[in-house]
Amino acid sequence: MPWYHPLLFALDAEKAHRLTIRALAAAGGRTGDVATSPRLAQVVAGVHFPNPVGLAAGVDKDGEAVAGFFGLGFGSVEVGTLTPLPQPGNPKPRLFRLVEDRAVVNRMGFNNGGIDAALARLPRQRAGVLGVNVGANKDATDRIADYATGVRRAGRIADYVTINISSPNTPGLRDLQHGQALADLLAASREAAALTPLFLKVAPDLEPAQIDEIARAAIDHRIDALIVSNTTVSRPTLRSRHAGEAGGLSGAPLRMLARARLVDFRSATGGALSLISVGGIDSADEAYARIRGGASLVQLYSALVYEGPGLARRIATGLDALLARDGFASVADAVGTDA
Ligand code: FNR
Repeated sequence: MPWYHPLLFALDAEKAHRLTIRALAAAGGRTGDVATSPRLAQVVAGVHFPNPVGLAAGVDKDGEAVAGFFGLGFGSVEVGTLTPLPQPGNPKPRLFRLVEDRAVVNRMGFNNGGIDAALARLPRQRAGVLGVNVGANKDATDRIADYATGVRRAGRIADYVTINISSPNTPGLRDLQHGQALADLLAASREAAALTPLFLKVAPDLEPAQIDEIARAAIDHRIDALIVSNTTVSRPTLRSRHAGEAGGLSGAPLRMLARARLVDFRSATGGALSLISVGGIDSADEAYARIRGGASLVQLYSALVYEGPGLARRIATGLDALLARDGFASVADAVGTDA
């Protein structure tokens, strides 16, 4: 753990997060280089990823510190969730560290400065892959139109665009994961994205029939990859005093659920779609297990809070060694070998 951790942990979680983003924004690319090697580099959905370790959405929502995160070794950075209009999100406090559980609970509610302000800020030259994650404003009268707007605008700049229909903190948002609403959303987003790769981020709290429905709809509408998964509204046994807070749970207690959903989506898609595994990843061993389980890429958020800023580089370097140990020439060769 870095020396300044006790200082950050003494602060309210959201203040500590703001400080971290500000420090990384100030450091820019001077923090280091994107981690890469011939084994780690790979093309997914037509995009060249220098390594498979990505920064998950929600960390740098407004795209203030993209160069700084690449400098920590991440091969990709997903900014957002961004909505067409700026919005304040839910009342504070809305972000909680569950230290004893190595977890986080949040009910941020898509606080962001609006997609236009963020897109204007994003670097045009960058060291790795830049994803933009879009959502609907809380008060939107036509949520699908909000997604189409976000996808169209983001697609001009991003290497890929993610439609996030899995946040538990915008009431009714996850209804877009089913039926005609899902079909309409995917059709409108695919059209708005034009040739930009389009990813769909799903919740971990899904029944088998829902998983099949999403997988089929994603394939039918030519979605390029699924991000599995967002935070969970379920509550496995937890010890921390914040365990009862409402919102989405992430970090170590999400790990088993995220592994299970990866397996489910792998079999539901039959390997027809690229998968990105997220949830409780905190080591090279865990990232490697997800890749062998069918993920082409991984992303992380909560473990950064507990493991510190060196984590992405440690995972990338560790993955390279694990691939070499097992005789894989590239990440792509290892994807799904345990599936
Ligand atoms: C998130 N996550 C998230 N996801 C998303 O698609 N859009 C968002 O705006 C956010 N915001 C957000 C805020 C906070 C405080 C957290 C902790 C998480 C979800 C995140 O990208 C990821 O899917 C989960 O956190 C699971 O990964 P970890 O944290 O277990 O590595």
